[in-house]
Amino acid sequence: MIKNTPPMGWNSWNTFGANINEQLIFDTADKIVETGLLELGYEYLVIDDCWSLKERDENGRLVADPQKFPHGMKTVADYVHSKGLKFGMYSCAGNLTCAGYPGSFEHEFIDAKTFAEWGVDFLKYDYCYHSNIIHGKYLFRRMGLALKNCGRDILFSACTWGADNTAEWIRETGANMWRSTGDIVDTWQSVKNLTEQQEAIFPYGGAGSFNDMDMLIVGMYGKGNVGIDGLNDTQYKTHFSIWAMLGSPLMIGCDIRNMNKETLDILSNKELIKFNQDADCRQVIKLSLFEGSNIKAYARTLENGDIAVGFFNLTDKKVTVKFLLDELGLPESTGKTLEMHEVWTGETVTVKNGTLIRGIEAFDSLVYRCKVVDA
Ligand code: GLA
Repeated sequence: MIKNTPPMGWNSWNTFGANINEQLIFDTADKIVETGLLELGYEYLVIDDCWSLKERDENGRLVADPQKFPHGMKTVADYVHSKGLKFGMYSCAGNLTCAGYPGSFEHEFIDAKTFAEWGVDFLKYDYCYHSNIIHGKYLFRRMGLALKNCGRDILFSACTWGADNTAEWIRETGANMWRSTGDIVDTWQSVKNLTEQQEAIFPYGGAGSFNDMDMLIVGMYGKGNVGIDGLNDTQYKTHFSIWAMLGSPLMIGCDIRNMNKETLDILSNKELIKFNQDADCRQVIKLSLFEGSNIKAYARTLENGDIAVGFFNLTDKKVTVKFLLDELGLPESTGKTLEMHEVWTGETVTVKNGTLIRGIEAFDSLVYRCKVVDA
């Protein structure tokens, strides 16, 4: 069964790029369990691009690179499964993958069958080198059908970066999640851009097909394949808080074999994971009071009647935020107010006179679980 909440896991691309092999996957699988990440919900271990040979075999099948995966993909999948994890792989709707390995175009059904035989539970499906004649929606419908008919539950993770108005057609293809924006890199500007670009497409996210803001850069510190500047821990905390609040899939991208305590603490914030995994999967509310600024404020109603509210200071200066409960449908005339519990510090505050005023340090965030209580 594929869950109807945002997928969580780890993906090889952000740190390792083409530098992947079976030992890395075995060690990462061990670590996901040892660190408690699996228990928190990070269940998919995904091998991204560059895992195959450059040629298919004589039967037209994809072949795992024997240098990188000497025991073959079935063995890798078995190991990952033996740890209680699910196993993910990568292909592309074009002739070639983005890094130039064989893509699945005109091989959709045979590839889906191969993945099913290997024990794959998740397929990231990219959009490089695709046909200019056949619209992307048909290419994704094909693979969607191939996966649905391969005899195994395989989560379909579309990666079209929002191109060709993906939002308009991706849900019909059977994709369980879809990359709504371009590739993340380990810079603050990238986090800001991806957040900003998400706002216009909030209505498309939700149960059935989640808007995917791309893999997390938490804990990369500028190292690895998409590591450029690196962020500080406050910035990583804010990045994680936004991805979690907005209901994006949470795919870790750092080297978890060597992560520090700060990284593990950020990735392990249970309250944020609960917001992310809330069964109602509600559309994000954009609070208008900071329109056009680099202070972002989002809210989401939760299954149990609480509300998640987050304020994100994307600037390098301390700011003061003034939040009016009116915007959430709670004017003073309702006789109700919010008891707000901050998920990083544990601070609890009850809003008086319908207004909350708070200072937020540079790059920092305040994220609350809010209970509706009598004023
Ligand atoms: C594209 C995707 C990335 C990654 C690479 C692999 O750029 O958007 O997430 O999968 O391809 O080549």
